[in-house]
Order: sequence, then structure tokens, then C-alpha cells
Amino acid sequence: MLSLVNKNILLGITGGIAAYKTPDLVRRLRDLGANVQVVLSKNAGDFVSEIALQAVSGHSVHNYKMDAESESGMGHIDLARWADAVLIAPATANFIARLKNGEADELLTTLCVATNAQIAIAPAMNQQMWANQATQENIKHLESIGVAILGPDSGDQACGEVGLGRMLQPIDLAERTAALFETGSLAGKSVMLTAGPTWEALDPVRGITNHSSGLMGYAIAQAAVEAGAKVTLVTGPTHLAVPNHVNAINVVSALDMQAAVMENIESQDIFIGVAAVADYRPVEVADCKIKKKTDEDTMTITMVKNPDILAGVAALEKPPFTVGFAAETNDVEQYARGKLERKKLDMIAANHVGGNTTGFGTPDNEIKLITKDDIIQLEKASKTQIARQLIEHVSIKFNKAK
Ligand code: PMT
Repeated sequence: MLSLVNKNILLGITGGIAAYKTPDLVRRLRDLGANVQVVLSKNAGDFVSEIALQAVSGHSVHNYKMDAESESGMGHIDLARWADAVLIAPATANFIARLKNGEADELLTTLCVATNAQIAIAPAMNQQMWANQATQENIKHLESIGVAILGPDSGDQACGEVGLGRMLQPIDLAERTAALFETGSLAGKSVMLTAGPTWEALDPVRGITNHSSGLMGYAIAQAAVEAGAKVTLVTGPTHLAVPNHVNAINVVSALDMQAAVMENIESQDIFIGVAAVADYRPVEVADCKIKKKTDEDTMTITMVKNPDILAGVAALEKPPFTVGFAAETNDVEQYARGKLERKKLDMIAANHVGGNTTGFGTPDNEIKLITKDDIIQLEKASKTQIARQLIEHVSIKFNKAK
């Protein structure tokens, strides 16, 4: 479970528009149990109020000057020692360059040089500035010396452009900060899963679906959180409660599911397709309820193939470690191997379905994990236990493949 209980987080805020989100970030860090102190860079005060930060952190805010008064009586070395982690959010391109150069010209840069705590930065800038070669080289260097890079996210930017460069949302940043302290096998990694069935509408009241309850996918999401990962769950309609610390995106149809996956796939390290996605959808969806025809005993529905979400992820230029499931009633291993090769997956979970005790809607499951050179049998157990074993094997293979 992600937690910051008893952790001292020094939040450094630099001068970018995303600084307006930092009072919320302080709240989110504190919600996870952290003690938070805030240090503003020279320009940060133009974007966020010291009073707001003081109110939410419960401490007076340190600004850029290094005189005893502005540091509220705490010397910068003491502050550097106090921190269990230093989180710079937002981190501007300028600050990133100064951090890379080891500058110590104001309180925040000095703290970064003086601390031996983990430093994490949440870049936030215009997409061109993020793509700029100098910025990318600075980021690479910081990563190589152990600075954690959290984000950035993509989407609409304050400047009106669209692209990579937005600061991650406060809740994500707080969780990623907590993950820095996790020692789980997927600590700090991002995992996306699909789960549940899809619903392919025929008309406003009818549709085509299947018996997937979502249990297997939700259990894997929970196991990934326990392993320290940041988890996004793209889920079809189910009756299940979303596990804590899982970011759930609710979808209905295969097309919705594909859109949600592709919109969020870029930052993922691992993708696991557990959903029972409809292979076909009706070509036409009637606007009104389809009426029974009194003079005809049969009805024909023309279907069109849905996109294969899993294969689409595996075919990306830089795919995450991609794991599929194969639900089969017969020749399970043979069909699963076929899917592993055809869809170019890193691993597939061959799931025998059709009986009463494993597969769709059952509390237990039994699967074979197949890679191109390995096969691991997970004996029948609760879906929670199967999920934990699966995550353990996925993290071993993922860490080897890196
Ligand atoms: O939800 P539960 O009740 O707990 O049941 C769990 C489960 C039986 C649904 C699960 O363990 C399972 O086997 N899921 C895969 C179900 C399935 O539809 O398998 P498939 O063989 O049709 O698809 C192969 C893979 O391609 C799957 O990873 C599937 O998510 C993916 N796929 C399939 C079609 C499509 N259009 N897009 C996809 O991404």
C-alpha cells in the first residue's frame, strides 16, 4: 500500500504556471501521511501564494533567500538533512539545467546540492522546450545520477499547444513520490491493465457482452499496487469496487477501451490485457429499440471486427512489456502460443475456460504463463493469489528484459 507515513518531503516549487497546483499537491502528500515543507525558487512566488502553501503545509514557507529569517530559523543544511526526499514540482527547463550543473545560487538549488536524500523532479514546460535537445540531455544526465523523473504528462498546455510537457496531476505525483520509498518489485513503474467485459450496443437497451466479472483484472491491479506500481485500470462494466490507489477509467465498448488505452499508453512500462474484449460489434446501432417483426422468425445481425487492442499496444514503436491473456475452451496451450507469436507479446497467460471452476466469473483460476522460451504453471488458487504470482513473474521477466 502506498504510504508516506513519517516521511519528510521537501517540496521545491519553481516558476512555472503549473505551480498553481502545488497547494493541492501538498494536500495529497499529507493525505498519504507525509510531513511537508515548502521551498520556493526566486520566481515561484509569482505563480502561487505563500499563504496558501503555509496554510496547507502547516509550516512557514521558505523562499529563495538564504538569510536566517527567511529560512524561519532552520539553516539550509538542517533543511537538507531533514528531508527524506526532495520533490521539485513543477521543475522548469531552466531549473533542470541549473540542477544538472550543480548550481547553488539560491536556497532551493543549494538544498539540492547539500542533500543526500532522493531527489525527484516533475518537469513542466512547453512541449518544444521539453523536446529540446539540451533539455533532453539534461534529463538523461540527471537520470544517470539517480534523480527520479516523474512525468511529464501530455495534453493541452497553458500556452495553447498540445503535447508532452504538462506536470503530472498532484495525486499522481504524491503516489509516485510514495513509490520512491517502496521496495516492491515494481516500485516506481507504471502498469496499465484492461479488465472486465465490453458491451457492444445493438440498440439503446440491448447489446452483446460476455461473462467476464472483472475479478481477475482487478486482482492483478491490486497485486501491482502492492508491488509498488502506479496502476491504471481501463475497465469495462463490472460490479466491483476499484482497489485503493488504482486509477480507473470506465469504458463500455471495445472502441471506447481502445481509445482509453491508446490515450494513456505512452508513459506505461507494462501493459496487461485481461479484458474479454468483443471480437466483433454490430455494424449498425439502432437509435430506438428494435421492434419484433411478427412476420419473420429469424433476425440477422451483421457484425464488423473490432480492433485488437493488445496487438495494437505490442505494435507500438516503443511498446511497454506486453502481456496478454488467452481464454480458450480447448487446445489452450497451442492457441495461446499462436496468440503470443501473432500479436508479438512478451508473455501470455493461457486460461482454460468453459468449466465451472476457473475462468469467467469464478473466484479461482489456473493459468499457464508462456513466453517464447519458458512456461510456468500457476496451480489452481484464488484469483488474488494467482494475481500476486503473475505480477511476481511479470516483474522478473520485465526487469530482465530492460
Ligand atoms: O473477469 P473474470 O470473470 O475474472 O474472468 C477472467 C477472464 C477469464 C476474462 C481472464 O482471465 C481472461 O482470460 N481474459 C482474456 C479473455 C479473452 O477475451 O481472451 P481472447 O483470447 O479472446 O483475447 C486474447 C487477448 O487479446 C486478451 O488479452 C484480450 O484482452 C485481448 N484482446 C482481444 C480482442 C480484442 N479486440 N482486443 C484485445 O485486446
